Amino acid sequence: MAEATRNIVLHVSDVHKRFGGLHALSDIDLEVEEGKTHAIIGPNGAGKSTLLNVIVGRLAPTSGAVVFDGQVLTGRKPHQINQLGVARVFQTPEIFPDLTVLQNVMAPAFAKRDGAFRINIVRALDRETEIREEAEAILDDVGLIDRRDSHAGALSRGDKRRMELAMCLIQHPRLLLLDEPTAGMSRHDTNTTIDLLKKIKARGMTKVIIEHDMHVVFSLADKISVLSGGRIIAEGLPDDVRNSPKVQEAYLGGAHRLEAH
Ligand SMILES: Nc1ncnc2c1ncn2[C@@H]1O[C@H](COP(=O)(O)OP(=O)(O)O)[C@@H](O)[C@H]1O
Ligand SMILES: [Mg+2]
Repeated sequence: MAEATRNIVLHVSDVHKRFGGLHALSDIDLEVEEGKTHAIIGPNGAGKSTLLNVIVGRLAPTSGAVVFDGQVLTGRKPHQINQLGVARVFQTPEIFPDLTVLQNVMAPAFAKRDGAFRINIVRALDRETEIREEAEAILDDVGLIDRRDSHAGALSRGDKRRMELAMCLIQHPRLLLLDEPTAGMSRHDTNTTIDLLKKIKARGMTKVIIEHDMHVVFSLADKISVLSGGRIIAEGLPDDVRNSPKVQEAYLGGAHRLEAH
């Protein structure tokens, strides 16, 4: 019964990615269910960021396809994929360092709602109030409201990541991809981010999250795929993955146990 109502919004089918002689991704199949949080874990160099870049159109796969909500993403440009409701937070934040935090968060809303060539000043000003209020509410959610007038370039690394998350949230994406969203954050900020991501989940947003921090993975993931050497070596519910000897072996060379602290 439950099986019949599963709605797969993102399909990655038989994706391969080569960089010269290096097989960064091989035979990748992934199904992400609507409203769920799907984590991709694996050691450094496993191919996690490459997979994310293939999904968002920054890298073309050598072969294979990515389908989101019935539409083929492969071959589309990143901004076209973004227009279809896919937003992403990269491992290295991409921001406007000379604008304020608030302006950074407002910018994607203007880009999306106005398009590049149809700016009607009066309507844009109308929306500016609305967009500003929403941006402030989101900054409050991510814990950055006190920094709203700071230059974005002056933020700490962790705060930049939170700002970039805010820049995604204002787009109301249907699918949010996060590449190590808590990298560079203190434990306290990590926990704040986990709470925020749980809140987003309660609103039904589908998420694909790449994460090194097992505390984050086991707090958030509904399903986990484990990448190693460019292949998915295990997949399942968090407890199954955590207890899989194969995963323990590949992920940590058998030296440590995968644990959520
Ligand atoms: N643009 C690129 N050109 C050549 N090799 C790359 C490129 N991007 C990544 N790689 C290689 O592909 C492999 C997977 O990298 P990556 O996807 O960044 O791994 P992860 O995010 O899991 O740490 C690594 O061996 C990396 O050096
Ligand atoms: Mg990476």
